[in-house]
Amino acid sequence: MTHRFDSIDVVREGLRSVDYLADDSIAGVAFLADRLEKPVLIEGPAGTGKTQLAKSIAEMSGARLIRLQCYEGLDEAKALYEWNYKKQLLRIQVESSEGDAEWTEIQDDIFSDEFLLPRPLLEAITADDPVVLLIDEVDRVELETEALLLEILSDYQVSIPELGTIEAKQIPLVFLTSNNTRELSEALKRRCLFLHLDYPSLEREKEIVLTKVPEISENLADQVARIVRSIRQLELKKHPSISETLDWARTLVLLGIENIDESDAVDTVHLLLKYRSDIEKAIKDFTANSAAHFEASQAS
Ligand SMILES: Nc1ncnc2c1ncn2[C@@H]1O[C@H](COP(=O)(O)OP(=O)(O)O)[C@@H](O)[C@H]1O
Ligand SMILES: [Mg+2]
Repeated sequence: MTHRFDSIDVVREGLRSVDYLADDSIAGVAFLADRLEKPVLIEGPAGTGKTQLAKSIAEMSGARLIRLQCYEGLDEAKALYEWNYKKQLLRIQVESSEGDAEWTEIQDDIFSDEFLLPRPLLEAITADDPVVLLIDEVDRVELETEALLLEILSDYQVSIPELGTIEAKQIPLVFLTSNNTRELSEALKRRCLFLHLDYPSLEREKEIVLTKVPEISENLADQVARIVRSIRQLELKKHPSISETLDWARTLVLLGIENIDESDAVDTVHLLLKYRSDIEKAIKDFTANSAAHFEASQAS
């Protein structure tokens, strides 16, 4: 059995090389997923790097990313495979116009590989090349579809009534993400390694900002990370995610701000928060704790 990663450090450094900053628990789970050949279920608030982790693992390991974006109403035909009806109909027309073909012959013909449209799950299982399968936002599908996923992730095989059983040529590295809009089944959770992605530590978020917004100064990145962290401590409807931190950082750079003062923060806070009531709370907090938040600007 060949493994993709030699050590947890290799995973962490590989992720860093594609600009994804992982802590030990993230790198550790990815390492184990590969060794144990188990899918990883990543859960956590929006914008904490769940989807990006799967993409970055694919990128760093040179694997092809196959993504199944989940939504309510996603069914087998879109997740696994469907028959190409148009092509089948055409073939039936041609064969029946030629006259001599038996129906059973036609049937064998049109339910063959040639007429199969593989969807992401089948595609991932039958791939010859290394693949990372991302099953994104799995909490959005209905329970039946979840059961189908579980079946495939347990056996790595797909049974197609007209064709027989198709077994995986290799076990893909699988990441499922969930925003926790509903509880997933115990069975699915049992099958997977679990990774809870929360907002990063102050240090890691600062590093993410420095990596993703290279024009920013260390001083500004530090202020950004600190202020975002203190906003996350407020009781809000929706806390700022990493993407919003990055948007804010880019905006501050564009505006030529080097030290964030209270009025800069008030003017740009809508990049971090999307609810009016949250914005109001944050602004109140800026004023109340002005000295603590905006120390750097007052010092300069
Ligand atoms: N650990 C990280 N290192 C670098 N960038 C990150 C990291 N986590 C999140 N990001 C950034 O945040 C963005 C949002 O992450 P995403 O994976 O879409 O969130 P989620 O899927 O959890 O909602 C990513 O596109 C990436 O730019
Ligand atoms: Mg996502």
